[in-house]
Amino acid sequence: MKTALVTGASRGIGRAVALRLAADGFRVVVNYARDEVAAKEVVAAAGGGAFAVRAELGTPGAVEALADGLDRVDVLVNNVAPGIVDTDINAGWLRGNPEAMAYAVSRHALGRLATPEEIADVVAFLASERSAVVTGTTVDATAGGEL
Ligand SMILES: NC(=O)c1ccc[n+]([C@@H]2O[C@H](COP(=O)([O-])OP(=O)(O)OC[C@H]3O[C@@H](n4cnc5c(N)ncnc54)[C@H](OP(=O)(O)O)[C@@H]3O)[C@@H](O)[C@H]2O)c1
Repeated sequence: MKTALVTGASRGIGRAVALRLAADGFRVVVNYARDEVAAKEVVAAAGGGAFAVRAELGTPGAVEALADGLDRVDVLVNNVAPGIVDTDINAGWLRGNPEAMAYAVSRHALGRLATPEEIADVVAFLASERSAVVTGTTVDATAGGEL
């Protein structure tokens, strides 16, 4: 079984990626910074030998904490370049605010926001053999946020 390490996987886009990769047969390592309850919920939902690792990236010793206990990593998901996505990070200004949502949508050519699950679909492709000949590129999965 291949192992996928997903940073920031307790909530939002990382959570969706972890669950998608677990569904595709990966053992997922669910990294989180503070929210242990959320991380454990993802682990339970993922199954397949998933486990959580607390490591607040950007702080001293975090990378060592992340690597500790890992026997192997086949796929590392540490980077996304989304448009605006309705996750906790945007909850304060976006949720329950129709004007803010209309503004957010207006910034995306597809006329809507990408969901975490749709971004996870793209990650799943890149983590699969179906993208075996793809090298060094950034895939725009922003619902047209960069157009
Ligand atoms: N959503 C957007 O519109 C948007 C747009 C552009 C870029 N991004 C970037 O995409 C990434 C994911 O965003 P999101 O919307 O999924 O955010 P989110 O729903 O707020 O989730 C953030 C996740 O990252 C974890 N995290 C935060 N700081 C961390 C650290 N120092 N080390 C390890 N884990 C950490 C959190 O862990 P805890 O649960 O433990 O706090 C949580 O699992 C972020 O880097 C964000 O800046 C998002």
